Amino acid sequence: MSLISPQFPPGFVHYPQFFNQEEQRQLISQVKQAVATAPFYKPTMPGTGHPLSVVMSNFGPLGWVTDKENGYRYEKIHPRTGLPWPALPHLLEELWLKVSGYKYPPEATLINWYRPEMKSKMGMHVDNDENNFDAPVVSVSLGDPAVFRMGGLKRGGSTLPLKLYSGDVIVMGGESRLYHHGISKVFYGESDLVPKGGRINLTMRRVNSVIV
Ligand code: SIN
Ligand code: FE2
Repeated sequence: MSLISPQFPPGFVHYPQFFNQEEQRQLISQVKQAVATAPFYKPTMPGTGHPLSVVMSNFGPLGWVTDKENGYRYEKIHPRTGLPWPALPHLLEELWLKVSGYKYPPEATLINWYRPEMKSKMGMHVDNDENNFDAPVVSVSLGDPAVFRMGGLKRGGSTLPLKLYSGDVIVMGGESRLYHHGISKVFYGESDLVPKGGRINLTMRRVNSVIV
């Protein structure tokens, strides 16, 4: 079942509890497997080198990375190990097929870990490092609940809150694809799904257009 609140921009869809508990556990075990070879690394802001409060890894042919020197970008290899990112798990391939409405597969799936000890959050931003905005962004929440905030096309202004629980999926397509959004709060300690605590967010994106 999907819920589309009329207050949210066109193209934004929320699927509460898309994944059941068993599937959530499977996804967490696949994240654990992935970070055994592609460990979580500490991303830093372009220019300032200021660390983000989340740590990151990726699944798929491309990974979103950022550092002081080279800024926001997609890379085929892990910034520390120099190895390709682990393959996208089937459950996530299937998710994309079911909800994206896009005929080509995602290229990048960013793994964000919101850590209890860092009280991680994510500031308002737009996902616009891709060369193609036709495909939506599909995002999975696992572990502790969080408050997602939807802003507007322009920076600043009012935001709408949406509480996301473990197993929830959101799709940011159509007009909402380039809207500002962020995570203003995580309710740390409410879920025991993530072995070391906190919240895992998986964000799937298409990066390039397909030339046919
Ligand atoms: C993001 O926008 O990159 C992450 C959103 C989330 O953690 O749910
Ligand atoms: Fe985002």
